[in-house]
Amino acid sequence: MKNNIKGKVVVITGASSGLGEAAARLLSAEGAIVVLGARRVERLKSLVDELTAQGGKALAVMTDVTDRVQVGKLVDAAVQKFGRIDVMINNAGLMPQAPLERLKVDEWDRMIDVNIKGVLYGIAAALPHMQRQKSGHFINVSSVAGHKVIPGGAVYCATKHAVRALSEGLRQEVKAYNIRTTIISPGAVATELPDSVTDVATAERIKKFYQEVAIPADSFARAVVFAIGEPDDIDINEILFRPTRQEL
Ligand SMILES: NC(=O)c1ccc[n+]([C@@H]2O[C@H](COP(=O)([O-])OP(=O)(O)OC[C@H]3O[C@@H](n4cnc5c(N)ncnc54)[C@H](OP(=O)(O)O)[C@@H]3O)[C@@H](O)[C@H]2O)c1
Repeated sequence: MKNNIKGKVVVITGASSGLGEAAARLLSAEGAIVVLGARRVERLKSLVDELTAQGGKALAVMTDVTDRVQVGKLVDAAVQKFGRIDVMINNAGLMPQAPLERLKVDEWDRMIDVNIKGVLYGIAAALPHMQRQKSGHFINVSSVAGHKVIPGGAVYCATKHAVRALSEGLRQEVKAYNIRTTIISPGAVATELPDSVTDVATAERIKKFYQEVAIPADSFARAVVFAIGEPDDIDINEILFRPTRQEL
């Protein structure tokens, strides 16, 4: 059976580490053309070199998802170089959890800017192209925290609930354009994500939790490959997965 991935142009934000990087590797191995955005462009470039050396096609574009113009340029680069955009993976995110009473307001702003507005800018950049093509696929990365609220995680959970809400709204609105929408909600996956926690007690708790339960990032990559790889008339709307060891 055709895998429905080969030759697709897939844009991934937050591809310089963790889940985005793992998805880029597996999608490239499956024959996708990957266009990679993040701020740490040197990391993106070495990933592009690695994928190209293995016979893949890839492009790195320095992108801060909090800047709408830069997200537009990322998507436009994909369309200019490869002629289209088949999949937009809005993955960039950060998780500086802390109790609200610590008043880490700058971190609240940052999570709203990256985790919510970054996803919206990705939609704004890719949607017009997909409408014109009458095909496309959005994959928006939420979390178990988009299904539950945990102590210390109020703002992070709010941003990830928001990703699910706007993804479902998007799903309902793009039927006429033959566009698919997938929310992927991972549990604990071993990435650099816990490094964004600055509250000392919370950081210790989260790092210990990740050491005990986290699974490798290729778990996420396989979920992405499943959602994209299904035939065009099948829309995998939501995937929630956890490490088998993870209780909540
Ligand atoms: N790991 C988990 O357990 C887990 C669970 C559920 C959900 N998630 C979600 O998965 C997504 C990816 O996180 P991860 O676990 O792979 O963590 P990670 O290793 O820290 O990766 C985060 C990625 O986001 C990018 N990023 C952060 N701020 C950005 C900005 N302003 N502009 C562009 N890119 C930015 C980073 O790139 P630069 O720093 O180079 O810009 C990096 O590539 C996030 O949305 C996270 O909330 C993760």
